[in-house]
Amino acid sequence: MRLLITAGPTREPIDPVRYISNRSSGKMGYAIAEAALAEAHEIILISGPVNLEPPGNAKVISVSTSDEMFEAVHRYADECDICVLCAAVADYKAANVSSTKIKKRGAKFSLGLIPTRDILDSLGHQQDRQFVLVGFAAETDHVEENAAKKLRAKNCDIIVANDVSGADSGMESDVNEVIIFFRNGEKKEISRAPKKNIARELVKIFLDFATKTFDKKNVMIN
Ligand code: C5P
Repeated sequence: MRLLITAGPTREPIDPVRYISNRSSGKMGYAIAEAALAEAHEIILISGPVNLEPPGNAKVISVSTSDEMFEAVHRYADECDICVLCAAVADYKAANVSSTKIKKRGAKFSLGLIPTRDILDSLGHQQDRQFVLVGFAAETDHVEENAAKKLRAKNCDIIVANDVSGADSGMESDVNEVIIFFRNGEKKEISRAPKKNIARELVKIFLDFATKTFDKKNVMIN
């Protein structure tokens, strides 16, 4: 199968030297790409700025802003069987990007922000979508409730939720623990383990779900 995977943070410029970003390391997305490559699947990895070696044999598309990630994802999604949107896309960007460095001022300074486009939501509501859509939900509270809400609102097939409130799992860490929510209300938990092991389990779950979905569609057509 062919998988599109997004990973890492995005950077939203404020002026030529400053940007808004987050603590995402890209480790989870890269581990998923590696696990899928090990099973001989084809990978398109759309990555924000990270300090990781790109996995060999993946087609890697490097982006910086949420708009660049949006364009890259929409360019390749329809060629893929599964889209896994693991990236921590910034929710807001500067309303106006200054072309010159903003000078320090003595007084209070506020920055006007506008929402970025939600890539997961846009794919979820794409007419006639053929690919399986997986989203991630990094939460600091009400993890299950928020993830289930996201699955419905963004119309995806699977949401992988993780608790990022502790310093020792989730963002930047090498370990994680996740709960996987499916469209039909089922859920599965993967307990605390290195991200590489979690990635192997996740890839199995995504492929199994996709195989069943595509088999069902074929039965309906025939
Ligand atoms: O709503 P929230 O940002 O928590 O949702 C997380 C999920 O949505 C992730 O899969 C992330 O990649 C995706 N997302 C996106 N575009 C955005 C914000 C989030 O694709 N602008």
